[in-house]
Amino acid sequence: TQALRLGIAGLGTVGVGVVKIIRRHAELLQSRTGRPIEIVAVSARDSGKDRGVNLSGYAWETDPVALARRDDIDVFVELMGGENGPAKASVEAALTTGKDVVTANKALLAVHGQALAEMAEAAGRVIRFEAAVAGGIPVIKSLTEGLAGNEITRVMGVMNGTCNYILTRMQSQGLGYNALFEECAQLGYLEADPNLDVGGIDAAHKLALLASIAFGTKPNFDGIEIEGIEHISLDDIHQADDMGYRIKLLGVAQRTPRGLEQRMQPCLVPSNSPLGQLEGGTNMVVIEGDAVEQIVLRGPGAGEGPTASAVMGDVCDLARGLRVATFGRPAATLVEAKPAITGLP
Ligand code: NDP
Ligand code: HSE
Repeated sequence: TQALRLGIAGLGTVGVGVVKIIRRHAELLQSRTGRPIEIVAVSARDSGKDRGVNLSGYAWETDPVALARRDDIDVFVELMGGENGPAKASVEAALTTGKDVVTANKALLAVHGQALAEMAEAAGRVIRFEAAVAGGIPVIKSLTEGLAGNEITRVMGVMNGTCNYILTRMQSQGLGYNALFEECAQLGYLEADPNLDVGGIDAAHKLALLASIAFGTKPNFDGIEIEGIEHISLDDIHQADDMGYRIKLLGVAQRTPRGLEQRMQPCLVPSNSPLGQLEGGTNMVVIEGDAVEQIVLRGPGAGEGPTASAVMGDVCDLARGLRVATFGRPAATLVEAKPAITGLP
């Protein structure tokens, strides 16, 4: 059987996690997909860095675009991050030279996803991005496959591990921002620019992607009302606690008669509810559909193992020949989202 040949750009928290899984589970992956999964070449900025993982046997490319263009890979795995720059250039290069793409990059797809999905389809390729939303939780697969028989009415939840970690540790330990930032960095949760995390922007990127898949609309990041957690004080947290509530950064996307409502804001939720009890870097996504009614998915939203797990789910689907369209349906059928004016500040 022919191996599925990967080129991996980005060997940070997630990239190293992917290399570890492929090295650790070579036989398991082959038995599940029917073919070997091999890393052919990798790329990162610093070729001399010790990454705590064996990279021998893989070709090194300094330029991720050159990696994406190699004719000895089938799938380009983009794990560098960033809305533009080398991530966008290399994904485009991969698609136009006949590779499928797996990425964890929500910033890239929330902003350029429609154009990239169209580019992929024109080239007969797909982009898979399970790891981009809610880390280890297979929420995209749930929407595009398991719940394909439903008209989805609402998706909501906690989708940023950093914010949930900070809010729960402020609550339980009375710790301040700086110490908690350091803990999140150690756990590999933070975006390269942590303002994306605490500003609610990272979670809003994820909500834009989920809403697109759920409602068949073009990703509309600009249509999201966003408020981060930077201004939440220990006083706010303790006052909420006294009243029996927790503060959570909650995202909601739902169809309304006025259009598509998309919000990402700190909200009060009852302390004894499943959302209220969500600790640390855990995420929770609630999906409502006309047939299934409601499902709740909960799991680690960030970090090396959980995120690499989601990347590998996509890689294995491609190895099996499962080629679900980028946003779960042809890009040309996605309609403009009409943003609902909610009147909220
Ligand atoms: P890191 O910062 O840990 O790693 C980024 C990697 O990309 C590094 O290896 C870096 O090289 C490499 N890189 C950056 N710029 C270039 C470039 N110009 N050319 C070649 N290589 C480059 O990021 P993460 O692993 O945390 O995140 C990767 C992606 O996954 C991002 O899109 C992020 O949003 C997403 N993600 C991350 C999650 C997490 O929990 N960390 C969870 C879900 C998604 P070098 O090491 O040499 O500096
Ligand atoms: N920075 C993100 C988070 C990584 O904290 O949730 C996972 O997408």
